Amino acid sequence: MAETKIENGPRHVAMIMDGNGRWAKARGLPRLAGHRAGTENLRPILEASVEFGIEILTIWAFSTENWTRPKREVRGLLRILERMIRRELKELHKQGVQLRHIGRLERLPPRLQKEVLDAIELTKNNDRIVLNVAFDYGGRDEIVHAVREIIRKGIPAEEVDEELLSAHMYTAGQPDPDLIIRTGGELRTSGFMLWQSAYSEYYITPTFWPDFGREELYEALVAYSQRDRRFGGIKDDYGSPYEVPDEEEEDDFLFDEEDEE
Ligand code: FPP
Repeated sequence: MAETKIENGPRHVAMIMDGNGRWAKARGLPRLAGHRAGTENLRPILEASVEFGIEILTIWAFSTENWTRPKREVRGLLRILERMIRRELKELHKQGVQLRHIGRLERLPPRLQKEVLDAIELTKNNDRIVLNVAFDYGGRDEIVHAVREIIRKGIPAEEVDEELLSAHMYTAGQPDPDLIIRTGGELRTSGFMLWQSAYSEYYITPTFWPDFGREELYEALVAYSQRDRRFGGIKDDYGSPYEVPDEEEEDDFLFDEEDEE
């Protein structure tokens, strides 16, 4: 697919695919019908992501809290993952998609664990786009996992820094998400990529995930490209609104004179 260039577009986009249940409810359908429609939306979004030059796409398919949903729904979501691997893997591989998993693997049925690992192994050298599937993923859970790994390795406290923690997250070696898209309109992070999202930009839309299409993805990317990302710093041309002439005078703005004894 030809690339539609977006100036200053994001390299890594992460998606909270929310609203499947409400999409189904609005149509008088069971929740699983919403998840099915949401699954069918993945292919066009993945294709559009390649087209828009996204290098890494992370999708949150199942959270560590989703185990508390009704058994039927949990079983349905596990089956969706299984079917996706069985039916789509060949095509994904052919299209140059590198599959990665973020989250816990050990709570999935052993057969599914193996299928996930085999899919990762098969596609590990593909470089058109990386697709991180967050399944049994929670942001706090990920941090706990990273800290445990560090302790297990016996790494001394003074060697623990942000870089080391990043290297122990499931996304080790990948850049942090530039843009996090949340569909379904909720104004919260739900702990998604808690560590990695410190300086991510957010795009939140009321659109339910099954209705989130290529056009709105494009809109989100253009909106991102117009953001002013300062990472806690300031830009040279981002001066004081008071036009302070010199440093000494600028200090006058810090304290009142009577404070300076
Ligand atoms: C949140 O919607 C969505 C989920 C918990 C599952 C998302 C899964 C897919 C889109 C299918 C793709 C799956 C794989 C394995 C790649 P919700 O059910 O919380 O919706 P609601 O807030 O409207 O109830």
